Amino acid sequence: TEPGRLRNFCIIAHIDHGKSTLADRMLQLTGIVDQRAMREQYLDRMDIERERGITIKSQAVRMPWVVEGEMFALNMIDTPGHVDFSYEVSRSLAACEGAILLVDAAQGIEAQTLANLYLALANDLEIIPVLNKIDLPAAEPERYAQELAQLIGCDPGDVLRVSGKTGAGVAELLDRVVERVPGPTGDADAPARALIFDSVYDAYRGVVTYVRMIDGHLAPKDRIVMLSTRAQHELLEIGVSSPEPTASKGLGVGEVGYLITGVKDVRQSKVGDTVTLAKNGAVDALPGYVEPKPMVFSGLYPVDGSDYPDLREALDRLKLSDAALVYEPETSVALGFGFRCGFLGLLHLEIVRERLEREFGIELIATAPSVVYEVQLETGEALQVTNPSEFPTGKIATVEEPVVNAAILAPKDYVGTIMELCQSRRGALQGMEYLGEDRVEIRYVMPLAEIVFDFFDQLKSKTAGYASLDYEPSGLQEAELVKVDILLQGDRVDAFSAIVHKDKAYAYGVMMTGRLRDLIPRQQYEVPIQAAIGARVIARETIRAMRKDVLAKCYGGDITRKRKLLEKQKEGKKRMKMVGRVEVPQDAFIQALSGD
Ligand code: GTP
Repeated sequence: TEPGRLRNFCIIAHIDHGKSTLADRMLQLTGIVDQRAMREQYLDRMDIERERGITIKSQAVRMPWVVEGEMFALNMIDTPGHVDFSYEVSRSLAACEGAILLVDAAQGIEAQTLANLYLALANDLEIIPVLNKIDLPAAEPERYAQELAQLIGCDPGDVLRVSGKTGAGVAELLDRVVERVPGPTGDADAPARALIFDSVYDAYRGVVTYVRMIDGHLAPKDRIVMLSTRAQHELLEIGVSSPEPTASKGLGVGEVGYLITGVKDVRQSKVGDTVTLAKNGAVDALPGYVEPKPMVFSGLYPVDGSDYPDLREALDRLKLSDAALVYEPETSVALGFGFRCGFLGLLHLEIVRERLEREFGIELIATAPSVVYEVQLETGEALQVTNPSEFPTGKIATVEEPVVNAAILAPKDYVGTIMELCQSRRGALQGMEYLGEDRVEIRYVMPLAEIVFDFFDQLKSKTAGYASLDYEPSGLQEAELVKVDILLQGDRVDAFSAIVHKDKAYAYGVMMTGRLRDLIPRQQYEVPIQAAIGARVIARETIRAMRKDVLAKCYGGDITRKRKLLEKQKEGKKRMKMVGRVEVPQDAFIQALSGD
């Protein structure tokens, strides 16, 4: 298709504002998916995505649409809606000329609406403002059309109103896309350059790479090069999804489609990278490529130690489809053999963990998530700490932690509550703005570690679910952080070491020692549980010695009962871990790590 007849667009929205449902209606209305084949949220492929109603992986579909007798090809590029994947979102936006800004007509603008809008504007996209769910009785299209119009500086009458559920207004929306979104421009005679905006592992076909052609042309059998790695491959297949993959003779300027080269690992096909031809190819990469960088680390351990080899294999397999996942073996006194894994954020962590448990059937214990600390020793040596138990003791010059720019949107009645929460999480207020009469945007710089720890749940519960949050990394900040260790009878339990702000160290120590006191059963002798910063003990609890002999219960008589009891004890011991001389049921560790 010639560029003039192409329209490349995406839908950007806050979570749950109905992006996937609207996309489904478009597939139906353009006739590429018929009623019967339609299953809900066609574009979300992974089970987890469908169950949780979130979009993790972006994908593109090509839809025919006729306006005034002229046939257009609309490429809709789906974008993930969560902050963990904002780099993927930015690359998807870079593949488009226009964006539908979709807002729930019963909710109004939310934090991700703004974050996505800013990303779209940064990519020079034509913005089409749309209110969704107008079928809802609670919809207030007048009010939110005003709000949207004010935000992007258009007339409230220009804000389209649709329902992804009933299909109302969707045809008009597609007409508007053709009318407003410019066709792509590029140089057909220049060396081929294609932007990778997604790559997906497929068990049968290997990696499927989604690209947007910028210049030139790519065809089957071409030898291609990935500019970031200089790796060469032969193009086995090139085509478009409509929505099932359909091979074609090639892709030209502005077209969106997929490539298959037979590579088996998504790391060979990196989001943001530039594809060109091996012979007479382009020299300059497209701007904006960044290597994925893990922000949050956690130790993953099999509950059953004999699952360790399976866990290794499962991670090796997952890695093929997840370019951002990193891991290395780690051992813990308390938890045995496991892996220290790095993730883009908390959602990414949860997804990986759930896939390991569900797709590979491995029951896991995860240590508390940790961010990456930059530590300068007095000797001048610098280190990166991703595991709190490896935090150096003494001789530290400075510690820096990652911080984020957080934006919270909420009704104005909650401003006080929100500020209190952010302040208690070491936030620094940056500014506050009214977006309409009732809704306020509050901006904070906050340590990522404070957000990782339960912040979103707290925010939701303190605002009856009304507040929404978005954040982006904004570098490092020096902070007075210390490591708190937990000791059982003088032996350190590595899985419970934590890096906390010095003002919060005491509270952490008291909480953790108390929790373990309640979870660890009595031993033959008294066991002190201590929290310490270096050699300084800051909190202490004691597990008192067991008084009665377990066998005393058996009146000395019945030998078989006695044996049974002993056997039962043996059984239980298999699940015991030794920390120094202290025997701890593994369950106690699991509960202490997951406790609120
Ligand atoms: P993420 O993928 O998590 O970003 O969500 P989404 O924006 O794709 O939202 P989704 O399409 O999953 O819709 C969220 C919820 O809103 C679902 O329960 C839908 O059934 C419902 N919904 C979507 N569109 C409409 C609509 O037009 N009217 C009504 N009444 N409900 C809708």
